[in-house]
Amino acid sequence: MTGKQPRPVKVNIADKMARFDEIYSPKVIAELNGQFVKLVKCLGEYVWHAHRNEDEMFFVVNGSLRIEFRDGPVTLNPGEFLVVPRGVEHRPVADELCEIIIFEPASVRNTGDVDHGYTIEPNDLEHI
Ligand code: NI
Repeated sequence: MTGKQPRPVKVNIADKMARFDEIYSPKVIAELNGQFVKLVKCLGEYVWHAHRNEDEMFFVVNGSLRIEFRDGPVTLNPGEFLVVPRGVEHRPVADELCEIIIFEPASVRNTGDVDHGYTIEPNDLEHI
């Protein structure tokens, strides 16, 4: 092996979470294989939406997140995750502040096919 290989960098989730306060404003903390790892702070109701071409993984770090689907909700607690398949309508809701990791292709638009106050285009996402 040469000495030219990139050096892996450790990421501390709590340190990254402490860097921002905005609600439903994804922050990119890593990129691999065309996917983003994002942190999101959730509070209140998000907007109903779907992602036509991308599956989306939600992993709860702190708090509790209810993800509503048209056929009923699923509640995620710390250490739990689910994958929302492409095309499936969903709406995250957090009754109290909830911190999550989202793992999904870099192309994902956070409000899917819906235009909303929470919409941030993928190219405009903040990297922290
Ligand atoms: Ni979504």
